[in-house]
Formats: sequence, C-alpha cells, structure tokens
Amino acid sequence: MIKRTIFILIKITKLSYEFFGDFLSFCFYSNYGLYTSKVKRLKYSILIEAHRVEKGLALPKTKLFFGKELFQNLSKMIFELSKMNTLNCVEVKKVLNALNTYLQFHNNQNKSFNTEQKKIMDVVVTLQKFIEKNSNFSDLQNSTRQNNFSLNENLSLRDNLLRRASSRIFSSEIIKKNTIDKIIQVAQKAPSQCNRQSSRVYLFQKKEQIDKILSIQGGAKGYSNDVHNLFIVTNDLSGWQGPQQRNQVYVDGALFSMMLMLGIQAENLISCSLNLAIKNSDEKKIKTISSISKSERLIMLIAFGFAKDKNRNIVASSPRRNLQEVLKINE
Ligand SMILES: Cc1cc2nc3c(=O)[nH]c(=O)nc-3n(C[C@H](O)[C@H](O)[C@H](O)COP(=O)(O)O)c2cc1C
Repeated sequence: MIKRTIFILIKITKLSYEFFGDFLSFCFYSNYGLYTSKVKRLKYSILIEAHRVEKGLALPKTKLFFGKELFQNLSKMIFELSKMNTLNCVEVKKVLNALNTYLQFHNNQNKSFNTEQKKIMDVVVTLQKFIEKNSNFSDLQNSTRQNNFSLNENLSLRDNLLRRASSRIFSSEIIKKNTIDKIIQVAQKAPSQCNRQSSRVYLFQKKEQIDKILSIQGGAKGYSNDVHNLFIVTNDLSGWQGPQQRNQVYVDGALFSMMLMLGIQAENLISCSLNLAIKNSDEKKIKTISSISKSERLIMLIAFGFAKDKNRNIVASSPRRNLQEVLKINE
C-alpha cells in the first residue's frame, strides 16, 4: 500500500513538473507572452483580423458593409507596424488582398452608398492607399476564388492537394452512410504513435443537435444554418502513458482530422474545420450533448457536405508565407 502511494506521488510530481513547464512556455512565448516581441504579436493579430475579412467574403450571404470596427482596428495595427517594421510581409499582403476584394465586391453591387456606408468605404480606401504607398507587393490576388469540382478529375495527387481549401457554402443534402464509411476508411489510414488508433469520430446529421454544438463553438457564424453534416473528432486519453505523452492526444487527433478532411475531399465534398479552442466547461457541455466519454478529449469539429454550387464553389484564398519563412534548413 505504502509502495503504491509513493509510486502515485512520484507520478503526480513528474506530471505536474511537465505541465508546469508547458504553463511557463505559454506565459513566456505565446501571443500574450512576456518575451514575445511586439512585431510578432502585431503580425499575428493582423493576420487573424484579415482572415475575418476574407472569410466574410466567402460566406453563403456576405453581409454588406460588414467590419466597420474591424477596419478601424486593422488601420491602427498596420500604422503601428509600419513604424517598427516593413509592410512587405505576408500578413499585410493578406490585408491588401482582402481590402481590394472587399472594395471590388461592394462596387460591383452598383448601389449608391449612404453616409454611414461611405464612411466605412473611406476607411477601407485610406488603409488600402496607405499600404500601397508603403509596400511593393508584386503578385496580389483576389482574397476569394472559385473552385470548380468538375476540374478536379484526373488531377495528380499533388495538384489535388494544392486545391484543398476550407469551404463554407454547403448544400442541405445529408451525406449517405456508404460515403461516410469511405471517408472514415481514409481517416483510419492516418499514422498514430505505436499504431494506437485512439482517435474517434462522432457523426451528427440532426439539425437541432448540430445547432446546439455550433452555438457552443461559435466559429461558424454566417454559415451555421447551412451545416447539415458535422463530425466531432476526439482522442482517447486512456491510450496515453506518462508525462512525456501528455500532449499526444492532440498530435494524433490532428493527424486523424487532416486525413478525415482529405477523405472528404476524395468524395468531392467540401469541409471546414472548426476549432475547439474552448473552456473545459464548454467541452463538458459538448460531451454531454453528444454522449462522448469523459476519457476522450475533443480535437476539432469538421463541418462537411456537398458544395451548394459544384461549378462555382467560392472559397477564401489566403496567400501562403514565402517558402524561406517556413522551411529552415539546418546546415
Ligand atoms: C484547428 C483549426 C480550427 C479552425 N477553426 C475555424 C473556425 O472556427 N471557423 C472557420 O470558419 N474556420 C476555421 N478554420 C479554418 C481556417 O480558417 C482555414 O484553415 C484557414 O483560414 C486557411 O484557409 P484554407 O483552409 O482554405 O487553406 C480552422 C482551421 C483549423 C486548422
């Protein structure tokens, strides 16, 4: 008995030590971290705000003149960044793409603007001009693009992968069980540590239940009404042993999720991951609604289905970082 108590105490101490290390890393180096530079912090915040613009333009019904405060906030951040750093970076390029697409979208409406709308457009144009004056981007793109599914046939695996995108404009069709099975078979080919296969996937096709889950998650505003097929990916904690494996549920769960999305793509369906960066209390609520065991951690939601318009599926098209920024070669 004493031996067992000592053994448990040692385990708890080791685990606490590692979790405390994680806690310190987050305190020092996360976006709010003590050692995080202001430029890095600003750049990520700009990227996230720019994403809200490009996402707003790739929804089933784009709300006219959305984002008044968003543009004011972006203007402030970009002005601040310009005092410390060059604006020739992917984050600002993404903003400029989004601003150009926003202006184009509203000008194409061929409507006259009221005073309030003019004010919003003025903020956007001022920011656009400021960025143009202080940068020299050569390959600007629209922040939305159209995917035509009939063009996917006979593409190489590489070209198919390069066409992957999060899509948010779903038809109301329910996906049939045999297609679901084929998707899961692809997901099951995901690698997992020691072939543990501790990922699980829960399927929801009842609208009432989907709405309850999405209302807790909150990241599908503007398209949640059109979600009729939803997966929750989980990973079972009981598969993991010891302090070193404390984060492995998320590693294996994320790999499984990616393969699940590729399985969806292989069936010519569209999908969008929905983060489960939520409080433990909200995770508990989702588990209760969905009858998910307490031993499983939630990894992410995946909304999926047919595209509303298979020949003209509009998606947000975000520029990627330069290769040199992502690939660090150790010599
Ligand atoms: C873990 C994770 C969580 C995400 N959460 C959301 C979300 O809550 N709502 C949403 O509309 N998109 C969400 N996305 C989709 C991202 O916005 C999208 O992947 C990103 O903008 C890049 O676009 P792409 O997937 O089309 O290349 C999420 C993606 C990931 C990987």
